[in-house]
Amino acid sequence: MSSILLASQFKYLEKFRNESDPLLLEMESFAKEKSIPILSRDSAELLELLVNICSPKRVLELGTAIAYSSIRIARNLKKKSVVHTIEKSEDNIVKAKENISKSGLHDKIILYAGNALEIVPRLDKKYDFIFLDADKNDYKKLFDYSMILLKKGGILFVDNLLWHGYAAAKTVPKNYRSSAKIIREFNEIFSSQPNLKTTILSVGDGIGIGVKE
Ligand SMILES: C[S@@+](CC[C@H](N)C(=O)[O-])C[C@H]1O[C@@H](n2cnc3c(N)ncnc32)[C@H](O)[C@@H]1O
Repeated sequence: MSSILLASQFKYLEKFRNESDPLLLEMESFAKEKSIPILSRDSAELLELLVNICSPKRVLELGTAIAYSSIRIARNLKKKSVVHTIEKSEDNIVKAKENISKSGLHDKIILYAGNALEIVPRLDKKYDFIFLDADKNDYKKLFDYSMILLKKGGILFVDNLLWHGYAAAKTVPKNYRSSAKIIREFNEIFSSQPNLKTTILSVGDGIGIGVKE
């Protein structure tokens, strides 16, 4: 399944997305060519705007891939603010390091190599903003850790809550069934936390935003 928006509307709105950073454009092409999932442009713009509005001092990203979203976060951070980002794929780590270095934002992006399920429980300081974008099988556990690590008033930003449209579909292809089930269960949990004010938006592949109360 493709975009949730009608193709004509999507194409119309694309005209207003004026990304011109050659590195980000190169990363978008690389991700497409190598089938590496990164945030859609509309989701990335929403993420950047939120970071810009909230001015977080400490951001945690779970799932770096090639550092596309890390760079988009970092370029909106104020002086002395940082994004800690975690990635487990060795190939992606190599590419992420290369891109972070090219971006000139290496003083704002701290990359942890390894499984977030092992690294996150060892983090001791809290975060103002957390972006969850790892394997869907890990979402529930990483969400639980995120709720502990998120400061009061902090923002949790989660990608893929429509899961290519299959979270809402009546018939789901066999190879998407178990992940669609995981996302459906996750959405129930995400939107029913007593201390998290949430919304799920039909932006990109479905973006969940929660504010910890
Ligand atoms: C959807 S991609 C991240 C895209 C990136 N946030 C962006 O928008 O540019 C998910 C990445 O998370 C990594 N990943 C998945 N589960 C992980 C885990 N438990 N710990 C660390 N990395 C993980 C995958 O290897 C993959 O590179």
